[in-house]
Amino acid sequence: MAGIKNSESSRGGFSNKFGFIMAAAGSAVGLGNIWKFPFEVSDGGGGAFVVMYLAFCFMLCFPVMMAEIALGRKTNKNAVGAFAANGHKKWAGVGMLAVLSGSLILSFYNVVAGWALGFAVEMFSGNFAVGNNFGEFVGNWHINLMVSTVFMFVTIYIVAKGVSGGIEKASKILMPTLLVLIFGLMAYSLTQPGAIDGVKFYLIPDFSEISFKTAYGAMGQAFFSLSLGMGALITYGSYVGKKDNIVSATAMILLADVGIAFIAGLMMFAFIFSQGLQGQGGGAGLIFTVLPGAFESIGPVLGRCIGGLFFVLLSFAALTSTVSLLEVPVAYVVDEFEIRRSRAVWIVGAVIFLLGVPSMLGNGTVEFFTNFVHYHGSNTTVNFMDFIEDLASDTFLPLGGFLVSVYTAYIWRGDKFKEEIESGNPGFATSFMGKYTIFALKYLAPFILGSITIITILSKFF
Ligand code: PFF
Repeated sequence: MAGIKNSESSRGGFSNKFGFIMAAAGSAVGLGNIWKFPFEVSDGGGGAFVVMYLAFCFMLCFPVMMAEIALGRKTNKNAVGAFAANGHKKWAGVGMLAVLSGSLILSFYNVVAGWALGFAVEMFSGNFAVGNNFGEFVGNWHINLMVSTVFMFVTIYIVAKGVSGGIEKASKILMPTLLVLIFGLMAYSLTQPGAIDGVKFYLIPDFSEISFKTAYGAMGQAFFSLSLGMGALITYGSYVGKKDNIVSATAMILLADVGIAFIAGLMMFAFIFSQGLQGQGGGAGLIFTVLPGAFESIGPVLGRCIGGLFFVLLSFAALTSTVSLLEVPVAYVVDEFEIRRSRAVWIVGAVIFLLGVPSMLGNGTVEFFTNFVHYHGSNTTVNFMDFIEDLASDTFLPLGGFLVSVYTAYIWRGDKFKEEIESGNPGFATSFMGKYTIFALKYLAPFILGSITIITILSKFF
């Protein structure tokens, strides 16, 4: 496997293709797979949502992911620099949008990651009742502040170590550990009484459940889960070697992400149905309310260990994602303002951490952040965290994906893109898959992502 040994340059780089795949899969696999995917499936009606999600991942996200990685590698720059390269200065704004999205997402993601860390401690200490008191747990700002501070510190520490010494090294250890743990838990969940009904709900689609809302939910989930539309893979792509095959790398990242989301869903629905908790919605609290009971049923000692281990695993998964989220603004600051990485990481990390404080306070602590906005036409209010999530993940990511596709197909032009994807994989552009990728970037992605963005904005914010 040929690597560029980019680490010899001042920007740093992955040592080889394997390192890149681990880091990018680490970015993709995170809370989106284990925390968000199951509750989106549950709220979206089960199997039908899963089918739409898979279709979006393979038909739309695959080309967009390849475009992001190619753009990064071609320009060797951060998200802003990549768009502005080769005389397209006006497009720098798109990169700025990516930096903004990444920072906003990290601000609340770090809070949820903190919950996972807090739950690991609760499980190890045998406090399974915390599952029934989830509202109280998230409403306790002291605990929130403590766990999310720890989480941000670890993220900053890893990013400060640089691309190969920090990001790549951590991913190479954390990703395989995660895989082993999650397979074990899935196998256990399937042996539980009643699990089969959960598997049926999850796998047998009821197409009458499909609506426009399911479709854009599935699309948003696919983008969030694959870390698309906010420059993370442009940034990571900029650290990839010229001779590395980015087509096969893209396929592996996608398969790893979809595979883990799929297994996490299987495990969750087996547990939910075996505990008789189906049909209760659950929203963002789903795994936090369902799983402690499942672990308790395993037995007092083993339940503590498995439960603790699970939430440690979830924290690991989140960590390789927070690292990539922080890397987007950090790479921008390092490249464009020539600030040392070690300093930039602390400044950017601190600002984003502060941005996350209202998300911590919006679960009952401070009224203003708890009932933060009232969308037009809705009879409920949403808290600060949900608002940021609606804005950054559901709106900015599809918008970012739309802009990446348009930029690749029409501004950067097909030929340069073809050249880039052929570097390390000669002949790909003229293969069926290659032609499909180019077609999707030219027509399919701009149309679908453009429509989804407009409809999301109109339906949510007006
Ligand atoms: N893909 C991550 C997850 O599924 O948890 C979240 C994420 C990371 C989104 C990095 C966007 C990103 F750039």
